[in-house]
Amino acid sequence: MTDNNTEKSRYIFPEWSNYVPMIVVGLIGGGLMTIIFVFWFWLSPKHTDVGYEPEQPIPYSHRLHAGELGIDCRYCHTQVETGAHATIPPVETCMNCHKIVKKDSPHIIKLREAFATDTPIEWVKVHNTPDYAYFDHSRHVNSGVSCLECHGRIDQMEVVRQVEPLSMSWCLDCHRDPAKHIRPKDKVTDLSWKPSEDPEEMGKRLVELYHINPREDCSTCHR
Ligand code: HEC
Ligand code: HEC
Ligand code: HEC
Ligand code: HEC
Ligand code: HEC
Repeated sequence: MTDNNTEKSRYIFPEWSNYVPMIVVGLIGGGLMTIIFVFWFWLSPKHTDVGYEPEQPIPYSHRLHAGELGIDCRYCHTQVETGAHATIPPVETCMNCHKIVKKDSPHIIKLREAFATDTPIEWVKVHNTPDYAYFDHSRHVNSGVSCLECHGRIDQMEVVRQVEPLSMSWCLDCHRDPAKHIRPKDKVTDLSWKPSEDPEEMGKRLVELYHINPREDCSTCHR
């Protein structure tokens, strides 16, 4: 036996095993990075919220009420023209009709019980902007921006679903070039409305008529 061999036999593990700790650390680190990335990327709002369609405690249908029955959005979302929030209607609003309409259907019985005991229905919020971003409905609705631009054909939805990302770049895309998103103010809640004139001409005309010039500086939405 040479010195060299004695030297070698001191190593219980083969030489490549020196790299094992590095590989393990790499794998764990990589795995961790992957997990962080997946959570950060896929679960961050702009990548999951489009298509978000939570089940609601009562199967209230916009397709039926706003579409077929033609009830105006503002009948229920009463603050949409005057405040930052559109607001969700209290049970009283439903009871204007459902004291009589379908009063023996199981869903309406649930509604009636909530009304009798003064318990609000726990509707699941669909659209959410983070607290650090400021949004105001009235500023948009009173500038001729239709609900359609941001919420899609709600009047055709059985269950409300988010159709736009509500991300910062989405907000800014319109703020930079609003003309094609503006319609006559009295048509903002008429989601099936189509212009009778050339849409491009109309947009330009209304932007001037309504003095529309949306801001893009950070403090507009982050205050
Ligand atoms: C009869 C009352 C009523 C009318 C009319 C109505 N809504 Fe609603 N809306 C509700 C209720 C109740 C909810 C909460 C339950 C749900 O999300 O379906 C809601 C939820 C919504 C939401 C989702 C809110 C969230 O959680 O992010 C949007 C957007 C919306 N409505 C838009 C509209 C638009 C646009 C119209 C007109 C085309 C309209 N609504 C007409 C009662 C109404
Ligand atoms: C410029 C885009 C835009 C327009 C136009 C718009 N919305 Fe919204 N809406 C939003 C955003 C963004 C939210 C989420 C706000 C939040 O998280 O506080 C929202 C939330 C809502 C909600 C949930 C309650 C609330 O106020 O947070 C309702 C109801 C609603 N919108 C109804 C309407 C109706 C009805 C119209 C038309 C009359 C309309 N919206 C027009 C962007 C818009
Ligand atoms: C302007 C009148 C009116 C208002 C306000 C109204 N509804 Fe209705 N609702 C109706 C009519 C009409 C029907 C359809 C009845 C039928 O199918 O014959 C209906 C049907 C329904 C149904 C289906 C019932 C079933 O079993 O078939 C539900 C659930 C419902 N409404 C919930 C609500 C809720 C929740 C609200 C308040 C946010 C509301 N409605 C506000 C008129 C109204
Ligand atoms: C489809 C077009 C459109 C989209 C999308 C949109 N905006 Fe606007 N926004 C406007 C218009 C038009 C005005 C009115 C500007 C005026 O009157 O000069 C406005 C005004 C505002 C104002 C009032 C301050 C001002 O510029 O005068 C705020 C705050 C605002 N928007 C925030 C947002 C946020 C936050 C989002 C995204 C969640 C958003 N907007 C998405 C078109 C849009
Ligand atoms: C028209 C409205 C609007 C303006 C103007 C705006 N932001 Fe935002 N910003 C938003 C909204 C809405 C979000 C939330 C986006 C989300 O939920 O994904 C946001 C998110 C952010 C975030 C969080 C990271 C991200 O991208 O989601 C940062 C940082 C930010 N904004 C910085 C800025 C800076 C800096 C400016 C000025 C150059 C600015 N914003 C101008 C609407 C705006």
